[in-house]
Amino acid sequence: MPRNLLTLEECLGILPSTGATTGQMETDQYDKAQDLLQRVPRRWLITGVAGFVGSNLLETLLKLNQRVVGLDNFLTGRRRNLEEVKTMVSPSQWERFVFIEGDMRDVETCRKACHQIDYVLHQAALGSVPRSVENPIATNEHNTPILPLK
Ligand SMILES: NC(=O)c1ccc[n+]([C@@H]2O[C@H](COP(=O)([O-])OP(=O)(O)OC[C@H]3O[C@@H](n4cnc5c(N)ncnc54)[C@H](O)[C@@H]3O)[C@@H](O)[C@H]2O)c1
Repeated sequence: MPRNLLTLEECLGILPSTGATTGQMETDQYDKAQDLLQRVPRRWLITGVAGFVGSNLLETLLKLNQRVVGLDNFLTGRRRNLEEVKTMVSPSQWERFVFIEGDMRDVETCRKACHQIDYVLHQAALGSVPRSVENPIATNEHNTPILPLK
């Protein structure tokens, strides 16, 4: 990649840039990241895609013409969240979305969901502190998934 183009990780501040100062990066790194994503679309996995955070990430990424795989078991998420996203993106953007209904505690489901994925945005979780006190085992199981490395 030419050095005048930042990588996505550099744009998002995950890795230090060799070509720009901290001040320069702070001013416009989000715009640069969006520009880079539109020019070189990535494949994303969003776990918990039917939840509050996951569905908002889905909308943002589809509007940037990204390819997105979403995984959810509708434990607390809603189909309505996905239907709403569908109304907010174009038909061609929606076609870039593949939904897998499944449980991220199942390793084969995770393997399938991770196939050819560049980035994982892991949002599937059981929220609520009271629930975690009432049933710590269930909370621990849902909140510490096994995502395959390969
Ligand atoms: N909502 C907020 O304001 C907020 C703020 C800070 C941090 N967070 C964190 O962001 C993450 C997502 O929060 P949210 O508000 O979107 O919660 P949410 O309950 O709306 O979404 C979680 C999603 O994960 C899914 N899910 C749960 N267990 C699953 C499993 N085993 N397999 C597949 N899918 C599963 C649920 O069905 C749901 O759609 C959580 O880790 C939460 O702690 C949220």
